[in-house]
Amino acid sequence: MEKKWWHSSVVYQIYPRSFADSNNDGIGDLPGIISKLDYLQTLGIDVIWLSPVYQSPNDDNGYDISDYQNIMAEFGTMADMDQLIAEAKKRNIQIVMDLVVNHTSDEHAWFVEARKSKDNEYRDYYIWRDPAQDGSVPNALGSTFSGPAWQFDETTGQYFLHIFSKRQPDLNWENSKVRQEVYDMMNFWLEKGIGGFRMDVIDLIGKLPDECITGNGPKLHDYLQEMYTASFGNYDVLTVGETWGATPEIAKLYSNPARNELSMVFQFEHIGLDEQPGKSKWDLRPLQLSELKAVFNKWQTQLDGQGWNSLFWNNHDLPRIVSRWGNDTTYRVESAKMLATLLHGMQGTPYIYQGEEIGMTNVKFATIEEYDDIETRNMYAERIEQGYTNDEIMTSIYAKGRDNARTPMQWDTSVHGGFTEGTPWLAMNPNFTEINVEQALADKNSIFYHYQRLIALRKQHQCIVYGTFTMLDETNEHVFAYLREYEDETILVVCNFTDHETTFTFEQASDVEYGTIMIANYTTAPAITQTMTLRPYEAIMYNIKNLSAEHVVTTKE
Ligand code: NOJ
Repeated sequence: MEKKWWHSSVVYQIYPRSFADSNNDGIGDLPGIISKLDYLQTLGIDVIWLSPVYQSPNDDNGYDISDYQNIMAEFGTMADMDQLIAEAKKRNIQIVMDLVVNHTSDEHAWFVEARKSKDNEYRDYYIWRDPAQDGSVPNALGSTFSGPAWQFDETTGQYFLHIFSKRQPDLNWENSKVRQEVYDMMNFWLEKGIGGFRMDVIDLIGKLPDECITGNGPKLHDYLQEMYTASFGNYDVLTVGETWGATPEIAKLYSNPARNELSMVFQFEHIGLDEQPGKSKWDLRPLQLSELKAVFNKWQTQLDGQGWNSLFWNNHDLPRIVSRWGNDTTYRVESAKMLATLLHGMQGTPYIYQGEEIGMTNVKFATIEEYDDIETRNMYAERIEQGYTNDEIMTSIYAKGRDNARTPMQWDTSVHGGFTEGTPWLAMNPNFTEINVEQALADKNSIFYHYQRLIALRKQHQCIVYGTFTMLDETNEHVFAYLREYEDETILVVCNFTDHETTFTFEQASDVEYGTIMIANYTTAPAITQTMTLRPYEAIMYNIKNLSAEHVVTTKE
């Protein structure tokens, strides 16, 4: 496979509203981001994925765009945006924009026009249907944010489709004018010198609403190939699609370079492993490590040479990984480093979500009123109506609510964690007094420096970028261990996923001539012996000689 710059890059996601507030209005902004670029350069990342900064009424915090070619006033101006792109570039950092084109805001000029009359020239930019015979919704399609996906519009007596909030009407991708408008808009941004696009719920654009098909519709890949040719295919950029329904087979369609579609996609199979099968993200069950291993094994091996993985634990929609699958009390530092090592040792492009690099945790607000997120609030109202108790619902919100990721960035111990001197739009996690950037930078054993080292290792070892992946002992419920091999280099990653001591056994450990420790999360690390004892959440990456996948046989402890 031809090598690309983004194969060896590490991406850092910024949720601008919560990152850094320069003017003390309680809302993060572009000058705030610019002021933190040196920090990001110190971390060593290559790319910033910027969650939406476009003009928006903020029904879904910027994922409802009313003007794709203007900046949200709360975040700054287009001049600030140009400056951000330029200042980032000076530090060898590319800016990847969030492309939200499955839907717009209901305040977008196209929709304002479209809803005026059935024969308006923009009517067909959106998806309108007559009511069912009894006057109700056209069909059973549901919104991701609770309730039906159809909203009745009084003026013209038809329903419009909204897979997300009713203030996020879906664009009609079958209309070639819509597609051209989108490509023109993308070119406007590409001409500014951005580094690519993260494509919001891109697998929905080929939907067939009358057949209740939303994801992976029949024209999806045609549209992406058209988009490639009409816009980003003419630039050397990174593109990553958000594709909730992707399997490895589907991911290869998107990311096989020969097909001229995307660089990579976000797949979410691992993300659903702690929810009850067939139910929603709010219906919890414990993670089983062997299932996580099976998912990663599948993705690592099946995309090898035929597509490209993105590697992530976190984003602005997901709970904090250290609270979710690590331990955010006694072993916060050890488990955060373990999870980082496990992920950053694999093949693909790693993504770090703001605050992950200092081990920020989930938050527990006492009442639903303190939550901002539309998905959380709608679900709460719906479940109260269905008879759930407040406590039951709050348990789900504490585990999975999107505001876990959206509390403001914790910079230091000053008022509001140095995020703002005003009142933050969403309350700080009170633990900012202990968990913050200032503390992390002052402690050479911090989670921050572990991430910094992992990023540096990726730059130094082609084996981390391109090596083949072999999972070891897939059924072991305590240890996640794997090998990476590339040319004459072999890397072994061993991670104890539990809060207790455990052992890991190699049948052929005596074949290891020697191994050097590339990174570890305790100040000492065990030698590679036939039976290794691992401390709680211990994680070690070894560079080893003379050991290859075919002669490692591991046994369960
Ligand atoms: C996925 C985004 O990540 C999420 O934050 C948003 O609510 C939906 N798409 C709708 O745009």
